[in-house]
Amino acid sequence: MNIQWFPGHMTRARRQIQEKLKLIDVVIELLDARIPQSSRNPMIDEILKDKPRLVVLNKNDLADPKVTAEWIRYFAETENLDALPIDASTGFGVKEIIPRAKKLLAHKIEAQIRKGMRPRAIRALIVGIPNVGKSTLINHMAGRKIAATGDKPGVTKAQQWIKVGTEMELLDTPGILWPKFEDQQVGLALAATGAIREEILHLDEIAYYSIQYLIANYPEELKERYSLDKLPTDLEDNQAILAVMEAIGRKRGAIVSGGRVDLDKASVIILRELRNGKITRISLETPGAQIAAEPIME
Ligand code: G4P
Repeated sequence: MNIQWFPGHMTRARRQIQEKLKLIDVVIELLDARIPQSSRNPMIDEILKDKPRLVVLNKNDLADPKVTAEWIRYFAETENLDALPIDASTGFGVKEIIPRAKKLLAHKIEAQIRKGMRPRAIRALIVGIPNVGKSTLINHMAGRKIAATGDKPGVTKAQQWIKVGTEMELLDTPGILWPKFEDQQVGLALAATGAIREEILHLDEIAYYSIQYLIANYPEELKERYSLDKLPTDLEDNQAILAVMEAIGRKRGAIVSGGRVDLDKASVIILRELRNGKITRISLETPGAQIAAEPIME
């Protein structure tokens, strides 16, 4: 799905989520575990206000477990938010969502019990940017395929509740949020993970930053994957970074006539393997640091 966000769309998306907030007890804020910062909506606190919120870090299978642990600590210590790693596609961690939501709502549930009421099912809404895995998670929780495509402009649809066991009811259409497009680092992180379409940024540029990041953070895994003997030590040496991309292209047969390496093809290979976890489990952001510190592409 590729959504073009304009100010009008953002206002509408925000309004639609705020309408739904009235119906629910808890928000499941779905982020990409590889880029929890860049896959986040810049206005999320303002949109959700004090609605109880569980942060869920999806695509945990592709992210670096050490870095994910750092993020969980960051969310707890800095934002007082509980963050849960999951893989919506396999279901890993998904069962934890209900107990975590119950913990967040413990006060409310206890109050219902004190009044002699039977606690009703927790009503939840999943929100997140396009491609973060909202539909996959809804389908997993529902135990069947739901055509959850989010809100389309001009289409009004009755709200449907999906029962998740006896303890939770989930709105069948997620809230679609927008990322912080205007920030180049965010754009790169989203492009490197495949969350936004490549046409927005040049493929070779995204691959260049990715290689630069891998050299800095996952050098052994990079060398191993592409049988490279050594890597450049100077991350600002453009020619040396390009030489790594060329070496990868050459090893993978991305050659044009005359024996030159086809950098576009090499970039496609690098990004495909980065995105599907073939190089290793990679996180592109740690709390406080993003994919590239300084843009140095000429
Ligand atoms: P959205 O509703 O938020 O827009 O996202 P959606 O569920 O459509 O998921 C976007 C892509 O992310 C899908 O891949 C989906 O399979 C993948 N995905 C979702 N959760 C996980 C996860 O936990 N781990 C991994 N590795 N991938 C996940 P796609 O390439 O667009 O489609 P397809 O390959 O499933 O056909």
